[in-house]
Amino acid sequence: MTTPTLEIHLSDDDLTAALRSDARLGLTAQQKWLPPKWFYDATGSALFERITELPEYYPTRTERALLERVVGAIARATQAEVLIELGAGSAAKTRLLLTALTTRAPLKSYVPQDVSSAALCAAAADIAAEFPGLAVRGVVSDFTDTLHILPRGGRRMIAFLGGTIGNLVPEERAEFLASVHTVLEPGEQLLLGAGLVVDPAVLVPAYDDAAGVTAEFNRNVLRVLNSRLGADFAPEKFRHIAIWDSAREWIEMRLEATEDMTVTVGELDLTVHFARGEQLRTEISAKFRIAGLTAELAAAGFDTEQVWTDPDERFALVLAERR
Ligand code: SAH
Ligand code: AVI
Repeated sequence: MTTPTLEIHLSDDDLTAALRSDARLGLTAQQKWLPPKWFYDATGSALFERITELPEYYPTRTERALLERVVGAIARATQAEVLIELGAGSAAKTRLLLTALTTRAPLKSYVPQDVSSAALCAAAADIAAEFPGLAVRGVVSDFTDTLHILPRGGRRMIAFLGGTIGNLVPEERAEFLASVHTVLEPGEQLLLGAGLVVDPAVLVPAYDDAAGVTAEFNRNVLRVLNSRLGADFAPEKFRHIAIWDSAREWIEMRLEATEDMTVTVGELDLTVHFARGEQLRTEISAKFRIAGLTAELAAAGFDTEQVWTDPDERFALVLAERR
């Protein structure tokens, strides 16, 4: 086995500085909000893994089944020597891709990237052990602002699975796709996993499960603020909310204050008031239509080569080539 290397482009201090700035901006806004990347400390990453096992949370198992069906076709459609995976998390489904690309395509190296060093270290070590001969190089960074640090050389494919593209608001998404275009060379590829618009009766329970795991995941962002910024949120005093916005075609997760509260964020010298019923937006999870998705890719300079969906059309995998 080759020992995996780990590149840290986001130190603990960098993370705290970024959270300070996001918390000041989001908690002082009229409609309070926080970016979803702050869910993912070690506890948040573990809670996300539990979400993927829930009966209501169909995206992960749907994407896995789809990958099982189409990895052969993906391997035939690529000559990738380097697979870079953004927001890799535990990279559980990526094994399917790595198996196909190492046996049927000339894959030599795997570069998982994530903001969560806990998730990334474990994934990089496990994959290096499972795929001897594959060079594994983990990168801890933020995919919204540091794509330029990703390795160059070798024919590359960037994978962005799980539907995480939907956690970016439309303007961020356009910026993100443009930056992926900038770092790739013409002819290199992007493999994108995206959740599709489905019946809200299926969608909403996926974000509001009966066992309350998603609620804990949502409240974890308050625990991150407490531990990183010395805030004194009482997470149990916030109610988890998941609502489908049919106009914007996204699920919105919020935390609703169950009573009037004053919270202090020690490191920011900031006092934040919550009125009973006031909501803090913590995540959007956009769902797509194929035509919209390929149009967004085209606008960013990608030609869609192939689109695969599951039989119920709940999830899509799109293979696109950088023009
Ligand atoms: N790709 C995996 C994990 C999805 S969960 C799957 O399909 O199951 C989303 C992952 O993206 C988490 O591991 C989280 O830590 C990571 N993430 C979220 N925002 C990020 C950002 N701005 N930069 C880098 N990683 C991010
Ligand atoms: C990581 N991301 C695609 C998940 C989603 O479905 O939007 C995060 C998540 N939020 C609640 N449940 C899972």
